[in-house]
Amino acid sequence: MSLQSQIETLRSEISAAIAGADTETALDAVRVAALGKKGSVSALLATLGSMDPEDRKAAGPAINGLKNDVAGLIDARSISLKSAALEARLKAETLDVTLPLQPAPTAKGRIHPISQTIDEITAIFSDMGFSVAEGPDIETDYYNFTALNFPEGHPAREMHDTFFMKPGPNGEKKVLRTHTSPVQVRVMQKTNDKPSASYLTPPQDPPIRVVIPGRTYRNDSDQTHTPMFHQVEGLVIDKSSHIGQLRWVLEEFLKAFFEVPNVTLRFRPSFFPFTEPSMEVDVQCDRSGAEVKIGEGNDWLEILGCGMVHPNVLEHAGLDPSVYQGFAFGVGIDRLAMLKYGMPDLRAFFDADQRWIEHYGFRPLDLPTLFGGLSN
Ligand code: PHE
Repeated sequence: MSLQSQIETLRSEISAAIAGADTETALDAVRVAALGKKGSVSALLATLGSMDPEDRKAAGPAINGLKNDVAGLIDARSISLKSAALEARLKAETLDVTLPLQPAPTAKGRIHPISQTIDEITAIFSDMGFSVAEGPDIETDYYNFTALNFPEGHPAREMHDTFFMKPGPNGEKKVLRTHTSPVQVRVMQKTNDKPSASYLTPPQDPPIRVVIPGRTYRNDSDQTHTPMFHQVEGLVIDKSSHIGQLRWVLEEFLKAFFEVPNVTLRFRPSFFPFTEPSMEVDVQCDRSGAEVKIGEGNDWLEILGCGMVHPNVLEHAGLDPSVYQGFAFGVGIDRLAMLKYGMPDLRAFFDADQRWIEHYGFRPLDLPTLFGGLSN
C-alpha cells in the first residue's frame, strides 16, 4: 500500500473514531491510539527515520500534516463535547425562579405590643436624658413596702393584693413586687448594708434621672386587670427638682407617646405612702367614638400616680432630705398600650394566641425611634 493511501486510510479511520467518541474519556482513548507513544500516527512518523532522504522530503510533510489534522480534529471534538456536557448540566440543574420564597424569620416574627410599648417609652425618656434601670421581680418586703414608708402592719400593705412567697429559712417572706417603686430605693441606695442592694442596676449618685420598666404582680383579674402586668416608674432626684418639672416631663412624655400635638392633664390629690404630696393624673380624652382619643374631647381618663418623693424614702435610701428632693411617677404600661393601639381586653395580651400577635404585633426591624416614628 502506498504511503499516500496508508495516510488516507488512517485519516478516515481516526476521523471516524473521533466523531464516534461521545465522552471525554473515549476521545482520550482515540488520542492515545493515534498520537500516543505507540499510536498509529506515531508509528508512521517513526518510519521517517529509515527512509532515504528523497522519499523523506515528500513523506515528512504528509505524515506531519496527518498528525496536525488529527490533533486539530481531537481539539475541536473536545470543545464540542465540553459544551454539550455543560448544556446537559444546565438543563438538569434548572431552578424554578417562580417558586415563592420562604419568608425570612424577621418578616414572620412579631414583637409583642408590650415590648413595643416599653421600647417606645424608653426611646422617649432617653431623649429627655433619662437612663433605664431594672430591679428583681421577687422582692423583699423591705424594698416593696418598708423602705417605701409603708409602716409595719399598716393596712396599706394589703391595699396591693400582694402575692406573698413562703417564708425562707430566716423567716423572711418575699413578695412578687406589687409595683416598680421598690427600684426607686435600689437606684438611690447610698449604703450597701441592705441585702442585694445592687441587684440588676447599680445605685447612682444624684442627680438621678431614671425610668424603670418591668413586670409587677397583684392578685387581681378582669377585663382590665391581670395578675401580672407592667409598670414604668420614673424617678428624678436633684437639689431643686420640683412639681413644675414633673408636670412638664409627664406632658412631654404623653404627647410623644400618643403622637399628638397637645395633651391636657388634670392633677388630683391622692395618697401613696412614698410620696408627699401625692397626685393622680387624668388625661383629657374623647370617649364618644369606638376608640378613646387622647388630646381632645370632654372626658378624663386616669393614667398614672405621682408625687414628690417622701423624705422618709430618701432617708431609707441614705440620701439627706434636707439636701435632696425629687419626684416620682408610676404608669401602667399595659393600659398605655391598650389606649394607644385600641386593644379592648388586657387578658388577650397573655394568651399567647398566634392570631392576636399577628394582628397586634410589630415587625421586628421597625424599631421605635423619635426621628423615625414611634409606631410606624
Ligand atoms: N407605685 C404606685 C402604684 O403602683 C404608683 C406611683 C409611683 C405613685 C411613683 C407615685 C409615685 O400605684
